[in-house]
Amino acid sequence: MKAVTFDPRSDTFQLEDVPRPRPGPTDVLVEVEACGLNPVDAKIVGWKSLVPDMQPGWVTGLDVAGRVVEVGTEVSGWSVGDRVLCHGNMFRSHGGFAEVTVQDAAILLPHPHLEPHVAAATPCAGWTAWRALVDRLRLPEHGSVLILGGSGGVGSFAVQIARHFGLQHILATCSTGNVDFVRSLGATHVLDYSTEDVLERVREITGGLGVAIALDAVGRDNDIIAADALGFEGQMLELVDLVRPEAYDDAFGRGLGFHQFTLGGAHRAGPAGKAALTAAGRSFSRLVAGGEITVPRLKSVTLDEVPEALDEIRAGHTVGKVVMAL
Ligand SMILES: NC(=O)c1ccc[n+]([C@@H]2O[C@H](COP(=O)([O-])OP(=O)(O)OC[C@H]3O[C@@H](n4cnc5c(N)ncnc54)[C@H](OP(=O)(O)O)[C@@H]3O)[C@@H](O)[C@H]2O)c1
Repeated sequence: MKAVTFDPRSDTFQLEDVPRPRPGPTDVLVEVEACGLNPVDAKIVGWKSLVPDMQPGWVTGLDVAGRVVEVGTEVSGWSVGDRVLCHGNMFRSHGGFAEVTVQDAAILLPHPHLEPHVAAATPCAGWTAWRALVDRLRLPEHGSVLILGGSGGVGSFAVQIARHFGLQHILATCSTGNVDFVRSLGATHVLDYSTEDVLERVREITGGLGVAIALDAVGRDNDIIAADALGFEGQMLELVDLVRPEAYDDAFGRGLGFHQFTLGGAHRAGPAGKAALTAAGRSFSRLVAGGEITVPRLKSVTLDEVPEALDEIRAGHTVGKVVMAL
């Protein structure tokens, strides 16, 4: 079958013919209809050390929409012909940039009432935004949020989640060309990080109080902006790097709280982790299927265009989502 493979020696992706994989006892084989592209796929060279058995020929691609074509001997609840959506395990090969993919039956969702390329655009970015804001930062209990990276995959869903819950102050950052786009998603205040002092703007908008919660979906020194933008006992969540409270202004005195989050950690956390992953998927998919959250700026590519598209994602300025559709 055709697949886009990763070569860990050269950090490159290429289209190849590879053997068709077989499901293990608790897996299903899924015929891929669409697979979303995410920064985590493009950054595979950064986590290959966590996968001791990674060989040339590794197939990534985590966000899969497709149809079950074979079930493992111990699988119950899923049958050949079922349409499914999932966020796969980055530490296993046989991902979704291929004609068929092997997936753990415990992380499948019934396919939502959406086109496959729309559904496949949602897991990594949308379920992360949901888990980060709703499960961890308890966004519905707050009045203000700062989203760093509002124009990207995670940020564009995060802004819409905040709008869905009716937050009074939804502050989001992006560069100049994306200001109107982020405003159209529901941000009440768009902060142009390339021309404005983000912290100063947060203080102006909140009357000096700071925001209740902040999400860093950019990395580098954006954690410092997120932490310093918080008000009394504010909470921030970091998606890209480790938090470093010593670098934040008076973190102890202000009683700040810090969260780390990784969506893929759920695969290694047993039934509770997988249940949290699929619960977020169901909640988020309902909002997308109901039209309350849209997949903005959706770009489709073919399987042979995936290597080039992953290279472009490495630049860190993707707007909205890119999906491979077969
Ligand atoms: N921990 C997890 O489970 C998890 C899950 C999903 C994603 N992530 C990580 O979260 C990050 C965001 O993912 P994504 O899918 O949203 O990525 P993306 O679509 O590439 O978006 C990147 C965002 O970063 C902004 N940005 C780029 N350079 C910036 C800078 N110098 N200062 C401020 N903002 C800047 C971009 O804004 P402009 O284009 O407007 O400049 C854009 O909004 C990635 O590193 C990804 O690996 C982690």
